[in-house]
Amino acid sequence: MVETGSYTASPSTKPATSRLLYVALIAASAALGGFLFGFDTAVINGAITGVQNRFNIGAGATGLVVSSALIGCALGAWFAGSLADRVGRIRTMQISATLYGVAALAASMAFSPFDLIFWRVLCGLGIGLASVTAPAYIAEISPAAYRGRLGSLQQLGMVLGIASAQLLNYAIVAVAGGSAEKLGPIAAWQWMLLIATIPAIVFGVLVSRIPESPRYLVAKNRFTQAGGVLQRIETGDVDKRLSEIRQSLDNESKPKLRNLRIGRFGLLPIVWVGITLAMLQQLVGINVIFYYSATLWQSVGFGEDTALLNSVISAIVNLLGTFVAIALIDRVGRRPILLVGSVGMTVSLGVAAWCFSFAEVVDGATVLPALQGQIAFVAANMFVFCFASAWGPLTWVLLGEMFPNRVRAIALSVAASAQWAANWLVSTTFPSLSEFSLTFAYGLYTTFAALSFFFVAKFIPETRGKTLEEM
Ligand code: GLC
Repeated sequence: MVETGSYTASPSTKPATSRLLYVALIAASAALGGFLFGFDTAVINGAITGVQNRFNIGAGATGLVVSSALIGCALGAWFAGSLADRVGRIRTMQISATLYGVAALAASMAFSPFDLIFWRVLCGLGIGLASVTAPAYIAEISPAAYRGRLGSLQQLGMVLGIASAQLLNYAIVAVAGGSAEKLGPIAAWQWMLLIATIPAIVFGVLVSRIPESPRYLVAKNRFTQAGGVLQRIETGDVDKRLSEIRQSLDNESKPKLRNLRIGRFGLLPIVWVGITLAMLQQLVGINVIFYYSATLWQSVGFGEDTALLNSVISAIVNLLGTFVAIALIDRVGRRPILLVGSVGMTVSLGVAAWCFSFAEVVDGATVLPALQGQIAFVAANMFVFCFASAWGPLTWVLLGEMFPNRVRAIALSVAASAQWAANWLVSTTFPSLSEFSLTFAYGLYTTFAALSFFFVAKFIPETRGKTLEEM
């Protein structure tokens, strides 16, 4: 629908608090996109032992089953920007929810590792679409003064998704007596995958009830609708806001990939900084904890239910760290938080690597001496805390604000794809690396954590308190 007339504003009557509550609710609905990818991250962690038993697969195939979703994520993120510009933010999030829900349902009924991998790629496509569209949508509907806090709802959604899936895994295994055991008609690992359809349905229903982004509506010349949405979410003069948005869209050239290409190294330097930031966030190995902690703790001698309980603890530590980040981000600034986070990650990962060097093979099974096992567990959770209170949320916040207006959407798509690709690399290689040597694997992550410190010190600008235009 194309409307040519302009919107005639009637003075807004809603008090500011109910307006803010409304914006928070629609932002929270979109942030469920974060919940979906957190949930998938963790659900596969609990299901993987059952999947291995069912299909009798080794380390390489296990890595593929876990990480195939991430190939889909990278693709989904890559296309998200242009899809959201073409069919709208809401439609893109609906497509994301549908892909995720259908794929989760089908994956739970997989009859071979191959179709399981196929469904997980599809599920990943849904996640990748949401990972770019949801934060863009939240930024577009948030009044400037609340954009930071509303933007972090996305990471909060992710962390809550991880925590709920860990709890769910733990409960299912506790009832079934193991992830490969039957619980009623189907196996425990199948329940874990199947239940992932629920958040997809909730996400799909909620995003169908929230308004389209006014910025997208203006781009499509649907001014009356855009004015109606603005009146519900903003205080002040709606006509003035409408014409500001129109003007900014007129001034911006179309976001094409070629706008990113200049300079000696083929891309705008700031895009390289974004890509490196996004990749380093993954190369420290955070998702090894969330994808594989169940097998990791089992491989050093913990029983299956203790290992899953450990995962629940890590998920709670992750949640606490996220609250710390939200409390600090606008007070302390981005750089100091990231730098302290890097130091904390380097030390804790180094300690974990050291502990794993005590692993011994006893009767064919790897075990750690009790003391080193406990220290490794504390160190791993220290690492999760340092990550969650710094690199986890801040990377996403920075990616949203560091690029020039003209290339923001497309640069975000590129950096988010690089982030998913790095996530894929780390999670596909972990099973083989850990078979070779856990100390070596954790030594690598320690090295990247140390590099992340120097990278931030040299390349990341302080963005706290600056408007997007000032950057
Ligand atoms: C970050 C990462 C994501 C990870 C999560 C853990 O946002 O991007 O890959 O699973 O934090 O909380």
